[in-house]
Amino acid sequence: MCKIILITHQKGGVGKSTLTFNLALNLADSAKVAIIDFDAQGSLMQLQSTTKTMDILESPADLNSISSLRFDFIFIDTPPYLSSSLPQLIRIADLIVVPTKAGVLDLMAITNTIELINQTGGLKKTMIVLNMVKPNTTLTLDILIELNKLEASVAKTHISDLVSFTRSVIQGGLGKNDKAISQIDNLTREILTKLLEQ
Ligand SMILES: Nc1ncnc2c1ncn2[C@@H]1O[C@H](COP(=O)(O)OP(=O)(O)OP(=O)(O)O)[C@@H](O)[C@H]1O
Ligand SMILES: [Mg+2]
Repeated sequence: MCKIILITHQKGGVGKSTLTFNLALNLADSAKVAIIDFDAQGSLMQLQSTTKTMDILESPADLNSISSLRFDFIFIDTPPYLSSSLPQLIRIADLIVVPTKAGVLDLMAITNTIELINQTGGLKKTMIVLNMVKPNTTLTLDILIELNKLEASVAKTHISDLVSFTRSVIQGGLGKNDKAISQIDNLTREILTKLLEQ
């Protein structure tokens, strides 16, 4: 059975596509992996011809057909709004990743996405991922309070603000940046562990 990982947040620019690409690529060496690009602007679709180790597919008309695709892992990238297909995608997902920047206003902006996930019964399989975390910053009390209010689990791994992540999509990977590589590795481990618990 393929595992479906949905990456979603109604806000733009939080790192959905970048995280989707790097998480998928990390598993693609040892598993059969596909990305499905639900963003009409199709940013990841443009990488279709240059990406050799995994498939990048357009969104299918029948969302139920996704579960029967022959892959070990399918990562679904979504657009920066609450699309009409999102409730159905939440239902079929085994895990939902919600990337966000670690600011109080950024965390407040998650509420609509989390509410929709909750209404669709997906909160237990949801993991918030703090992205673009500035170096040498600790999570302040107000940020921790906002995270607690959200009632979804938060990944222990934080993804730093690194040029390697910006470049990764064009360069087809993280190159030799050990920090970025180990962060994506650790987040992949957390995702695989949570998938086992479902
Ligand atoms: N960890 C990171 N460090 C540095 N830059 C990052 C990181 N993650 C994402 N970025 C950059 O931030 C910008 C937005 O990222 P991305 O396009 O992945 O966000 P998105 O949520 O998919 O946006 P949209 O909702 O518009 O599709 C891009 O320029 C990307 O390179
Ligand atoms: Mg995107």
